[in-house]
Amino acid sequence: MRVIDLRSDTVTQPAPAMREAIAKAPVGDDVYGEDPTVDALQRRAAQLLGKEAALFVPSGSMGNQASLRTLTRPGDVVLASENAHLLRYEAGAPAALWGVHVKTIGSGGLFDASDVRQAVVPAQDSHVAPTRVLAFENTHNFAGGRIFPQGALREAAAAARELGLALHLDGARLFNAVVATGVPAAVWAEPFDTVSFCLSKGLGAPVGSLVCGSHAQIRKVHRARKLLGGAMRQAGILAAAGLYALDHHVERLAVDHANAKRFAEGLGALGIAVRPAPETNMVMFEVGDAAAFARGLSERALRINPIAPGRFRAVTHLDVTEADIDEALERISEIVRELRSA
Ligand SMILES: Cc1ncc(COP(=O)(O)O)c(C=O)c1O
Repeated sequence: MRVIDLRSDTVTQPAPAMREAIAKAPVGDDVYGEDPTVDALQRRAAQLLGKEAALFVPSGSMGNQASLRTLTRPGDVVLASENAHLLRYEAGAPAALWGVHVKTIGSGGLFDASDVRQAVVPAQDSHVAPTRVLAFENTHNFAGGRIFPQGALREAAAAARELGLALHLDGARLFNAVVATGVPAAVWAEPFDTVSFCLSKGLGAPVGSLVCGSHAQIRKVHRARKLLGGAMRQAGILAAAGLYALDHHVERLAVDHANAKRFAEGLGALGIAVRPAPETNMVMFEVGDAAAFARGLSERALRINPIAPGRFRAVTHLDVTEADIDEALERISEIVRELRSA
């Protein structure tokens, strides 16, 4: 039985044309600043996000953590959305590496200006840890690929600015938000000091993320990348895949979003609770007997990750077609029948 892999949009294989772009890429030692393909990718990213500069980093986690390094001092507080990736899935890095603690704000990946005003404790008193950064995640992974509404984002960012905070955007899947809303990346990025986005998620490149910001900010991120061991040499072979992805794999994210919707509707028709309704390329759903359901999935070569008790996350991507979605639904309908008759 053919494997259908809906665990994550990170599982994609580089397509032949992307491999060709990798093979042809002119390269140089990027630690000496001599890799023309890395330079081209960084210029492209900065321009797309409307920032002065960008830096290529090996991963989204490094993009987030190198950014936090430049925006904080030990003892500071970072405010981040509930279940933010930088808090939940980056091995405790904010505390372990930078001595900052992360306080969550809002719920379901979202917050508003009044949440920001309530969360920031005035730090004139030396007992109080200064709140230094507000971090957004858009789209939000754990909240099921949810898009942060543009108006609420602007208002929350403005409230944070008034309170003297710096702003970071974990835009690992920013281009999903761009394609789903039609709001350009530069508009999403405008309020932020640092924005990281990933090439290796829905965009289908094998490796890499970019951090975008002002020249001064990116100079600091460059140092933080070195500190983290993320300076690479002939990295143009990776950057070439990123350029290819930005040229060919942005608009097609709409296909992933349509497939996620189709999958969610199919699950609903089978009596499976989908919560929340998908906005981009993720489908979160709940089943009663999760262990039996997971066994059914693995017996049918269907890969979908459990993400909380009774809760699963399916992610559509470049290597999943509409026919795969229909086939996945067919296999799930068998599981549902089996569980009902048990
Ligand atoms: C929202 C978000 N931020 C950051 C990351 C980290 O990316 P990486 O796996 O490249 O470190 C991920 C990975 O899934 C993510 O979903």
